[in-house]
Amino acid sequence: MRSIVFCSGKGGVGKSSIALNLGLLLAQAGKKVVVVDADVSMANLALMMGIERTPITLNHVLSGENVIEDALYDGPEGMKYVPAELSTEKLSRADYNRMKQAVVKLEKDFDFVLLDAAPGWMQDAKAAMNSVKEAYVIVTPEPICIADGLKAKNYLERRGTKMLGVIINMALNDPTEIRDSDIKGVMGMDIAAKLPEDLEVRRASASQKPVVLRSPNSPFVRALSEMASKLAGKQVVAKQPKVKKGLIQSILDFFLRKGDSSGGKKTV
Ligand SMILES: Nc1ncnc2c1ncn2[C@@H]1O[C@H](COP(=O)(O)OP(=O)(O)OP(=O)(O)O)[C@@H](O)[C@H]1O
Ligand SMILES: [Mg+2]
Repeated sequence: MRSIVFCSGKGGVGKSSIALNLGLLLAQAGKKVVVVDADVSMANLALMMGIERTPITLNHVLSGENVIEDALYDGPEGMKYVPAELSTEKLSRADYNRMKQAVVKLEKDFDFVLLDAAPGWMQDAKAAMNSVKEAYVIVTPEPICIADGLKAKNYLERRGTKMLGVIINMALNDPTEIRDSDIKGVMGMDIAAKLPEDLEVRRASASQKPVVLRSPNSPFVRALSEMASKLAGKQVVAKQPKVKKGLIQSILDFFLRKGDSSGGKKTV
């Protein structure tokens, strides 16, 4: 029912990391979620999950070769996703209006349609912004990033998108960083979340496993869970991974089980 874009002026501020991991948290909370890689010239959503083969992508949908249902895949935790393609070959035939048509279809089947946008305001970034009803603008606490974020916000406001607020990412809470109150003032929006700089996010990217699944207790995931709770309307806590038994524990369990089965029988 809700379609939300994660956008920014400057690149590399954490849009994909936030969209993917927020999607996973909402899916763990029982919501029907689809995350769409709307960064069609720099596909990275599938790679962030360690998935390499996705034969039909959003690029196929934009070029008119396939419908959105063909590009819908099962992700972790019951979350669905729509990948983009690593090759940009199909983009010469892309009709970006098809992105909105695809989102309208997805809105009928999902509680949350989350779009990971390209940075800036080239054609693909604008297509993502034009396809949804609500938006977050992501910034890092640096002056150039905020100036660029403001341009994205102005574009979204002109087209009447509901602004959900600014997400400050990679915060070090260092005195050299721009203060929250100044970011709020310049952006003219509430701060929806402040997510810390966290090495676990980079480790997760490197290992191609989402940080929510790899490090559910990390500061980034804890802060993101608060944001997910507001969206879900209930408390969201990242699921703990199943701990694999060590060898010693498995041997002990084996002998304890054997002891149980013979110990229960009466011997004459
Ligand atoms: N809070 C964080 N702490 C540390 N590293 C982070 C954090 N958020 C994102 N990163 C890292 O920053 C890099 C860029 O993140 P990501 O790809 O999510 O940004 P993006 O805005 O989607 O980039 P692009 O504009 O290129 O699409 C990645 O290596 C990611 O692991
Ligand atoms: Mg990205």
